[in-house]
Amino acid sequence: APSPSDALKRAAAEAAVDEVKSGMIVGLGTGSTAAFAIEALARKARNGLDIRAVATSERSAAQARAEGITLIDMDGLAAIDLAIDGVDEIDARLRAIKGAGGAMLREKIVAAAARRMIAVADVSKAVDRLGQRPVPVEVLPLAQGYVAAAIRALGGDPALRAGTRTDQGNVILDCRFAALDDPAALADRLAAIPGALGHGLFVTEIDALYLATPGGIVVRAR
Ligand code: A5P
Repeated sequence: APSPSDALKRAAAEAAVDEVKSGMIVGLGTGSTAAFAIEALARKARNGLDIRAVATSERSAAQARAEGITLIDMDGLAAIDLAIDGVDEIDARLRAIKGAGGAMLREKIVAAAARRMIAVADVSKAVDRLGQRPVPVEVLPLAQGYVAAAIRALGGDPALRAGTRTDQGNVILDCRFAALDDPAALADRLAAIPGALGHGLFVTEIDALYLATPGGIVVRAR
């Protein structure tokens, strides 16, 4: 049965999808909230909205394909029009932790390439301070020992996400930080570690948040 949070996720996703216009290239996120957006977008496409999409994961690509959305490859694109994706935590300055679903590397490429990036979330994702959840880092398998040590040197506590490979065939280190008080500085330091291919701290990419609360949708813009 659908849970109350599913209803909120669906409401946020549908509100964001209302921003999609014919002719756009749309970035499809990953996770349960993004899945509601893909479903809503497919419904609009069947009703004549003319869009093409790039997916942030094989899972979302499969859903989009099954629902009849036209998918294109990212490799030939310099930019996309609008990306819609979920988050795991988001603060008042629209900084977020993503990657519980393991797709943060492609999610960040799509978010950065997007002229507009909308985060969609139910109210449980809004936090005063980032860092309750670990920051996921995608790591080239042969570099995992080195990258784990480099993350410990930054004050993090990395844990290998067991039995998981990303869509790119890499491993994930879920990294807890006792004090995540400067997300921008941490994002830069993580990005500078050789062998760390991407991470789930989103500092500048998100332009707007559609936050579904029991009282309605709250829209926050950067
Ligand atoms: C996927 O890698 C994540 O970044 C998702 O965007 C995130 O886990 C949100 O998923 P839910 O919408 O299922 O909470």
